[in-house]
Amino acid sequence: MTTYITTPIYYVNAQPHLGHAYSTIVADTYARFKRLCGEDVWFQTGTDEHGDKIAEAAEKKGVPPREYADDISALFRQSWKHLKISNDRFIRSTDVDHVAAVQKILQDVYDKGDIYFAEYSGLYCTGCERFLTKKELVDGKCPDHQVAPKEITEQNYFFRMSRYQQQLVDHINNNPEFITPERYRNEVLSFLSEPLEDLCISRPTSRLTWGIALPFDKKFVTYVWFDALINYLTGIGYPDGPEFSKYWSVAEHLIAKDILKPHAIYWPTMIMAMGLEPYKKLHVHGFWNVNETKMSKSIGNVVRPQTLVDSYGRDGMRYFLLREMSFGLDASFSDEAIVARINADLANDLGNLFSRSLAMIMKYRNGKVRLLRAGDNENDRQLYEMAEGMLVSYQTYMTGFQFHKALQAIWELVGFANKYIVSNEPWALAKDADKAERLDTVLYNLAETLRVICLVLRPILPESAEKMAEVLQIAGTPCVSDLRAGGRWGALPDGVVVGEAVQLFPRLESVKREEKTSCSGKEKKKKTIQNESETGCITFEEFTKVELRVAEVLAAERVKKSEKLLQLQVMAHEKRTIVAGIAEYYVPEELVGKKILIVANMKPAKIMGIRSQGMLLAAKSRAGDKACLVLTTVDGAVENGSRVA
Ligand code: MSP
Repeated sequence: MTTYITTPIYYVNAQPHLGHAYSTIVADTYARFKRLCGEDVWFQTGTDEHGDKIAEAAEKKGVPPREYADDISALFRQSWKHLKISNDRFIRSTDVDHVAAVQKILQDVYDKGDIYFAEYSGLYCTGCERFLTKKELVDGKCPDHQVAPKEITEQNYFFRMSRYQQQLVDHINNNPEFITPERYRNEVLSFLSEPLEDLCISRPTSRLTWGIALPFDKKFVTYVWFDALINYLTGIGYPDGPEFSKYWSVAEHLIAKDILKPHAIYWPTMIMAMGLEPYKKLHVHGFWNVNETKMSKSIGNVVRPQTLVDSYGRDGMRYFLLREMSFGLDASFSDEAIVARINADLANDLGNLFSRSLAMIMKYRNGKVRLLRAGDNENDRQLYEMAEGMLVSYQTYMTGFQFHKALQAIWELVGFANKYIVSNEPWALAKDADKAERLDTVLYNLAETLRVICLVLRPILPESAEKMAEVLQIAGTPCVSDLRAGGRWGALPDGVVVGEAVQLFPRLESVKREEKTSCSGKEKKKKTIQNESETGCITFEEFTKVELRVAEVLAAERVKKSEKLLQLQVMAHEKRTIVAGIAEYYVPEELVGKKILIVANMKPAKIMGIRSQGMLLAAKSRAGDKACLVLTTVDGAVENGSRVA
């Protein structure tokens, strides 16, 4: 099986930022996932270097466009190196083979009669590098760039895009997975419900020289989109390279919603005019905002990948980006959000599972894991059924670009394994010589769960998974076909001696950049002092220490000899007993089945001889002159154990 995945080639008029990094990390994750499945993968990214935008930016800087493009393209290349992106080719639209491919295609399409010469007047937006239709304007301006487009009349070459409109509509209708998520497919179909205009594909050299010369008329250069899209063919050796025949039929493009039209309309019609089969899939994601605001240079809130790596590490950054954005929808970046996610999910949930399990294997068995294959109980079966279920849904989600769901599925297993430790109490088993086999089984199950988790995390958190693999003694396993070979329960061999746990994710202490981007040094100082004097306020860091979770009441009864207390059994991320002073307000029976909120990380306390492991949240008020108390409940659709943030 083969996979070909691409990112957009990025304009070199701006330095790499969070948005570019996201697309590149998504494509990298997908490429790594497919390699893990044993597939032969070609992963391509690069830079888009011709056109008005770049020429203008170079002129502003007072350097020739080529020099300017060289510098910024190098920045992208370095950035992706720094992020350890596993691309097979970094293509530049100024590469010699690309220029040759564009010219060949132009000549072929011209010879075929699909390119013609005509005069045209239109509204041109330099930001978009294309003519806009009146319908696309909002208050006379380009909605993406907030500038009024220039009215331009000139003679140019046109691509007969309209000729392929029906063929494209049919293709989209017959291939529901051609453009996903569905909202973008619908957007394209709705656009195609109106007659399509032909596409202006040239610029006169009197206006622009920074582009690929038209092979049939040297007084014109190629319109940048007609040039750039072709990179997806050049990169794999179109028309006769061996890679081309291997990968073209499986091409999958990844873009954000801003460049849907060129990819979903210009590109497939161009491909049809070339007489090729359209690409296989177009995956479209939403936009990253920063603190709920559009990222922009003028606002000064542009987030650089380098800063993220320095503050949060490569894997911390990857985890957040993939977990936080529902693919297809917009998401918001903030330092608070990334710190909270890293601390809760990585340092706490996964980090603790890893270190606790390995510490116990080391302490009780000197690191040796035994596979006894005897006496599985219901709890063991739940654990490995869950692991196997996760392996199946993980593959479906990863193939469908549902990365946040893949991560949710993995973290359900992480949570369950943490519960498994609590309910099996290995520390108690270790005290009883008769329970030695049971202890071995519990420890094996934990090590095996970690192996499975490590396996599925390889494409997502490559560095941390590598560290886990080394400790678990599975590091040498080749990646190829690992998922098939290792994607079932019980592959960790009997007798493996695991190493000491290493810290995977240090807890992050503070939220960093917000102040840096939103106010100057002086203001920042003032702000800090003011914050310090705001007594009664807690910091974000303090708030994140409180672990609020959804819990379902399984059973409730009065505490003997107490008028005020009820003893509840609840199911949050694990089963808990909680003693609460609510007997005056609730009869036990009416509580059963309610989904309430608890503070899950309260230090356990003995109340009337019962160990209480948490606190309930409730609102106290008055009904008339009577005090009343109402438990905070949540909608039944929420899963038990969900964190409340
Ligand atoms: N050069 C064209 C693409 C040609 S592809 C044949 C271009 N370049 S770009 O530098 O503007 O990159 C646009 C792409 O960068 C988006 O489609 C997306 O992949 C990524 N992002 C840029 N800003 C983004 C966000 N704020 N959020 C998410 N991704 C965004 O268009």
